[in-house]
Amino acid sequence: MPRLRPSLFWTARRDISPFAALLLRVCRDVPSAANELRWIREHIALTSSPAPPKFRLWKLCEKRAKGTPLQYVLGTQPFGGLEIKCRPGVLIPRHETEAYTTELAQILVRHQPSSSTPLSILDLCTGTGCIALGLLSLLPSPVHIHGIDISPTAISLANTNLHHNTRLGLLPPQPSSIHFTPADIFSPFLLPFLTQPTWDLLISNPPYISRGAFARETARAVRNYEPRLALVPDRDGETAVLGCASEDVFYARLLQLAGILAPRRVFFEVAGIEQAARVVDMVRGDARLSGFYPQVEIWRDSPHEEYEMQRVRNYEVPFRGSGGARGVYLCRHDQR
Ligand SMILES: C[S@@+](CC[C@H](N)C(=O)[O-])C[C@H]1O[C@@H](n2cnc3c(N)ncnc32)[C@H](O)[C@@H]1O
Repeated sequence: MPRLRPSLFWTARRDISPFAALLLRVCRDVPSAANELRWIREHIALTSSPAPPKFRLWKLCEKRAKGTPLQYVLGTQPFGGLEIKCRPGVLIPRHETEAYTTELAQILVRHQPSSSTPLSILDLCTGTGCIALGLLSLLPSPVHIHGIDISPTAISLANTNLHHNTRLGLLPPQPSSIHFTPADIFSPFLLPFLTQPTWDLLISNPPYISRGAFARETARAVRNYEPRLALVPDRDGETAVLGCASEDVFYARLLQLAGILAPRRVFFEVAGIEQAARVVDMVRGDARLSGFYPQVEIWRDSPHEEYEMQRVRNYEVPFRGSGGARGVYLCRHDQR
């Protein structure tokens, strides 16, 4: 990373404030430092603390200047119309996740068989609960949602986010049923907890980064501050049994669950075209799954309505939207 010119620090200090000069270390340009300073000031104005505001401002700017992600400093991240609380130990929701969540909500509404039958959604690896709660906010009530995560910290935060957004009036008061449960999706005892006549959607943004890519390619702020458990699948035993690349082991397990539960639609976030192609191969290479799910699509970062067909290894696959490959979507034969 190129070093910043000292004149930039003087400009930030002179034109904005010494705190903006402090933030410049991570923000790298004066307008971004000014923006972040404004958000930190707004956060201090809106939250109470026994500490004097100036002292809080200095502590928060110092924390941010050391590289702590802004969302952990402010404690929240917008997700659609929601305010998702963020805490160290739980992955910060990403904009790309918000984009496909919104698109999936529209598909579910368009294809809902009857408005009196609650839609049912299973969100595996739920983290902050952003996907589950995002869908809850976008779908007509009532909805039945079950979110699962191995991390008790994540489950506690997902529940906090449910209550926080309900209190703010950003989620409807609950005729819907929504539960967050701590569990390991590889556990053989998981299935009895997932009983439901038919899930309308099985969705997951699982850990999917290889150990090598985590060490070499992820941003330092992600490596140092966000939980490795959320990003890197360290499941050597299961990888050997399922016979896939270590970074794909969650997809192998999620597809096993899809094969048993037969949800109407399935969506998995992936890390790019190579991983998307491997997930498509896993589906197409399994007679049962490809029978269930003849419609297999790759979704890009902005998954709007437009499609183009592209050859991915041995298959012609519809690509939806624009940007990099972000997800794999499956739809059951009886839902088109
Ligand atoms: C990439 S994060 C996604 C979080 C959230 N859904 C989102 O989109 O921001 C993956 C999540 O999977 C959880 N996780 C990791 N291993 C798991 C397992 N074996 N079973 C269930 N959840 C797991 C992590 O705790 C983390 O919250």
